[in-house]
Amino acid sequence: MEKKIEQLRQEAAQAIKNVAGTLTDLNDVRVKYLGKKGELTALLRGLGQLNADDRPRVGQIVNEARQQLEQLIAEKNQELKSKEMDARLANERIDVTLPGRQTNHGHIHPLTLTLMEIKDIFMRMGFSVEEGPEIETDYFNFEALNLPKDHPARDMQDSFYITEDILMRSQTSPVQARTMQAHEPNSPIRMIAPGRVYRRDDYDATHSPMFTQVEGMVIDKDISFADLKGTLEDFLRQIFSKDVKVRLRPSFFPFTEPSTEVDISCVMCKCQGCRVCKGTGWLEILGAGMIHPNVLKMSGYDPAKVRGFAFGLGIERITMLKYGIDDLRLFYDNDTRLLDQF
Ligand code: FA5
Ligand code: MG
Repeated sequence: MEKKIEQLRQEAAQAIKNVAGTLTDLNDVRVKYLGKKGELTALLRGLGQLNADDRPRVGQIVNEARQQLEQLIAEKNQELKSKEMDARLANERIDVTLPGRQTNHGHIHPLTLTLMEIKDIFMRMGFSVEEGPEIETDYFNFEALNLPKDHPARDMQDSFYITEDILMRSQTSPVQARTMQAHEPNSPIRMIAPGRVYRRDDYDATHSPMFTQVEGMVIDKDISFADLKGTLEDFLRQIFSKDVKVRLRPSFFPFTEPSTEVDISCVMCKCQGCRVCKGTGWLEILGAGMIHPNVLKMSGYDPAKVRGFAFGLGIERITMLKYGIDDLRLFYDNDTRLLDQF
């Protein structure tokens, strides 16, 4: 019996020592010898068959062997656990000296920047911001603006027609009529309306078949040409600089009377004459005028009771002057060498 116990003890001790894998492997060994149906446990059960003299002594040997094996298992358990931890630490090591990963920041497009600034300036003057559709009816794009079918001035804005009566809008001016028609007749309006417009134009340094305008319209009882001039001068000094000079030139638009085109002193050369202003010292920036009585009438307003002014500016041109960009096509190329500068 003692021999058998000693043999089992050695065998189990060796098996424990040999465990090289996981904690599960160690548990398998424990079950094999010390579990309910384990080999050493079986010996303990067999004690009952020994005679009373031998029982205490053999019992003690078995228990000692058991305690020793449990001790070995506990040690092995510790060893496996720390090995596992070492492996995890090695595996999940973070090199804090590695350079950080670069995140790519987007930039606000220069046209959007200009638009944000324009909105800010006009909202401070109490203007609301309106919107109109880019696919527009002939009625709103032309007729409601005093441009009946066959009016020769339609040629100035040759556009992209979808059907006889539907086109890509050639200007933001249709929002004038849309806004009036959405209001009680003769109620005061102070709004701007930014958005894309489309024309059958060339694609060169200062022209694109798709570009961006901001329409402006003010209607009230006592609006005069002085209000138009003052508002636009105030705006231009805020968007460019305090000492920018503003010049009004007589012009023609079918929906305003009188009409004017507004130039500013060239911000590139300070009126000395350069490539951008083509040597003149001045740059055209927008069209404007007092709203034509027919336009008021067609949208339900009474020209005997209210008057107003309107203007339309080209965002690309303003952005070019603001940031010294000499080719409008750069705005649509999505070249990050340009966009990264904003
Ligand atoms: C108009 O479009 C009028 N609707 C403006 C207006 C509104 C007048 C309200 C009176 C009352 P015009 O065609 O000149 O006007 O265009 C206005 C501005 O848009 C120009 O001064 C210019 O800055 C810009 N623009 C015109 N055509 C192009 C183009 N092809 N590419 C880029 N910008 C352009
Ligand atoms: Mg013009």
